[in-house]
Formats: sequence, C-alpha cells, structure tokens
Amino acid sequence: MDVSSASFVPRRVSSAEEAREVLAAEGAVIVTGLTDERSAVAYGREVMGDKAIRVGTQFEATKAHGEREAAQVAAQPADSRGRKRSFAPTEERMVAHNDGFAFGDYAPDHLFLWCERPAALGGDSFLVDTSRLLDLLAADPAWAAVAEFCRTTDIDHSEPNYPQDTYAPIARTVSSGRFQGRYHPYLAPVEGPSEDEHMALLRKWEEAVVAARDTGPMFRVEAGEMICLDNYRVLHGRDGHSDPGRRVCSIWGWSTDAVAIPDGPLDIVVPKMPRTPKLRQSA
Ligand SMILES: [Fe+2]
Repeated sequence: MDVSSASFVPRRVSSAEEAREVLAAEGAVIVTGLTDERSAVAYGREVMGDKAIRVGTQFEATKAHGEREAAQVAAQPADSRGRKRSFAPTEERMVAHNDGFAFGDYAPDHLFLWCERPAALGGDSFLVDTSRLLDLLAADPAWAAVAEFCRTTDIDHSEPNYPQDTYAPIARTVSSGRFQGRYHPYLAPVEGPSEDEHMALLRKWEEAVVAARDTGPMFRVEAGEMICLDNYRVLHGRDGHSDPGRRVCSIWGWSTDAVAIPDGPLDIVVPKMPRTPKLRQSA
C-alpha cells in the first residue's frame, strides 16, 4: 500500500490573500519574510481574515522548553487503562499529530508554525493530509475497512487522565463544513464489547499515518518562514534534531469554523478541558 502521496510539501506564496486560498484548497501553505513573533501572529490573523476569532502564541518549540515539559509529563501517572503520557526527546522524529489534540473540540482549527531559527542540521518538517490518506485507504480493498472505521466509529480522543467531554470518529465533517481527520499517540477505543476490535483498527490507522510520514517528502523551513496549516485536516511534525538554538513558535488560531473556542491559553502539560460553551454542535 503506497500512501506516500498523502504527505506533501506546501507551496510558498507571497500574500495573505493567496495564502488563505491555498490553505483552503490544499490544507497548508508557507509564507515568508516574517522577522519577529508579533508580525507572525498578526500575519496568521490576516490569513484567517474575517473569520478570525482568536490567535496567539501557544508555545515556543525549543530543545530546552521541550525537555522541561517532558520532565513534568513524565512525572504524571498512568491512567486506569495503563495509558501513560510522554513527550518524546527532541532527537526523535515526531509522531504526526494535530496540535491541541488533548483539547478535543477546543483544538485550534488553524495552526501557524513560525520559524525564528531552524536547526543547523535535521529538524525538517512533514505534513500528512488526512483527507487524502483516508481516500487512499478507502480505495484499497485491504484497507477500506480502516477508512470506514475512521469515518463512522466514535472513539476516545482524550489523553491519559484528562478525559474529554465527548466521543467522536477520527474523521468527520464538522457543522461549519470543515473536514477534520485526527491522529495522536493516545487514541483509544470507547470501553465496551467492541474494544479489542476497535483497538486493532486504530493500530491500522496508526500504521497508515506512520507510513505516510515515513515514505512521503520532508522539507526545510528557513528563518522568517511560517507554515500555515489547516489543523483540522493536516497532521504535522518534524524530524529529530539536537540543536539547542532551533526556535519555532507554535501559534494557534480559532476561526468561526471551529467547533469550540477556549477563553484563554491552553496548557499542554496539564491539558484540562476548557469550560467555555461550544460554538456549535459537532456534526
Ligand atoms: Fe505540533
């Protein structure tokens, strides 16, 4: 099964209008010439345009910051099902993921990864279009059941010890019309009689995501460049690196398309669910 075409290199464009169009059509785009964090946040808002509600820097991805957070998360206990949270070392290739996955419906629908300084060596980025990946799986008789499972079966998207308030399929169209396809390392079946069968299908989804990541292209983002992402549709991550000078800001954006919008910053180390009312029912 060749799923490499679900992984892609975003185009580089030169205006916020063009970025908005390409982002809507292709799920990601790169903009250039952003010299500081404030301009990056402002540009992200401009790309979201009239639909923008909330945008702000969520965290700085640096080796030191990552190590600090990893130590805090490592001290957290396993949950009742034996699931344990962990943040991988910077030297490892990241698991493909949607940002804010711990927050379920409150995850940002837009993500802007602004590169202040790339790693001297390594740290290349990858993107996986979950819509394309599911279409590839659905077209292959050996994998069609996995696509069907992802599109129809409620699962538990929560992180160990931080339950979400709802179950949902891996892939869905939310009521604003946006497609959402999700992956992160803690996806679990809803507890019950079908748990083992669903776990086996989740493992197959994981296998497909890993294959798309590892067989598709990767790309380098230079200083001043920013990847604008449809965080509902596209998974992201970067290759391992060991450069303490690499600095990337993760800027989260919520638009009127989002299912729910938190009223303040979210804490990925202690990912408690926000209490803000949801904008809309998820479809
Ligand atoms: Fe991320």
